[in-house]
Amino acid sequence: MRTPIIAGNWKMNKTPAEAKALAEALIPLVQDAPCEVVLGTPAVNFAAVSEAIRGTNIKLGAQNMHWQPSGAYTGELSADMLLAAGCTYVILGHSERRQYFAETDEAVNRKALAAVKAGLIPIICVGETLSQREEGYTDTLVAYQTLTALTGLTAGQVAQVVVAYEPVWAIGTGEVATDEQANETVGVIRAAILGQYGDAAADAVRIQYGGSMNPANAGGLMRQPEIDGGLIGGASLKAEDFAKVVHFDK
Ligand code: PGA
Repeated sequence: MRTPIIAGNWKMNKTPAEAKALAEALIPLVQDAPCEVVLGTPAVNFAAVSEAIRGTNIKLGAQNMHWQPSGAYTGELSADMLLAAGCTYVILGHSERRQYFAETDEAVNRKALAAVKAGLIPIICVGETLSQREEGYTDTLVAYQTLTALTGLTAGQVAQVVVAYEPVWAIGTGEVATDEQANETVGVIRAAILGQYGDAAADAVRIQYGGSMNPANAGGLMRQPEIDGGLIGGASLKAEDFAKVVHFDK
């Protein structure tokens, strides 16, 4: 059985003081979570959040990283820096990074390889735009994005990563994919992994849904057999809402 994983993606929100307050408010609300709980916070908040969550069941995540271990890359952070700051997870290839920062599938692949090599667990985001869905490219695209991002990893390593299926048209729009749409496309991603890496990796790899997931729709999405978790943007910024998503089984 795959352990479900609910991760907050705070994006460019919260100062260290606000981040500390949010993390502290969450601790009692999610201490009996039926899943892994991850907070993907801006890097400036790593110290405050890792201090706040020490000894709890909450894990720290970053939202991006560079693939090189060090060097002349102004403004960037390496996998070892994230690890040293207390991160367990790193979100990679989010559609906002692809859209606004020209991140390519190849760059996501370099980052995924560097993350795994360093001992971070990547949460690799894939997903189609509305026009790609309407034109019938969703399955081909998400399979391509996924397999490109994973290129060079062994089946054993693929079993450990997390993939987040995030239809671009559902992110921050309030327009969530239906349970069936989400389940079907997550199934396509798992089938692609099965074809390339075999049964054991496909059975073990956790695949989240993301895009306007909230307390009202989390239960239905999480009951889908292919969906192992959620990557939560807007609804992760309020402790009560995020805690309700974490308790999707209630
Ligand atoms: P949303 O964002 O929940 O606000 O739609 C999800 C994401 O971007 O990961």
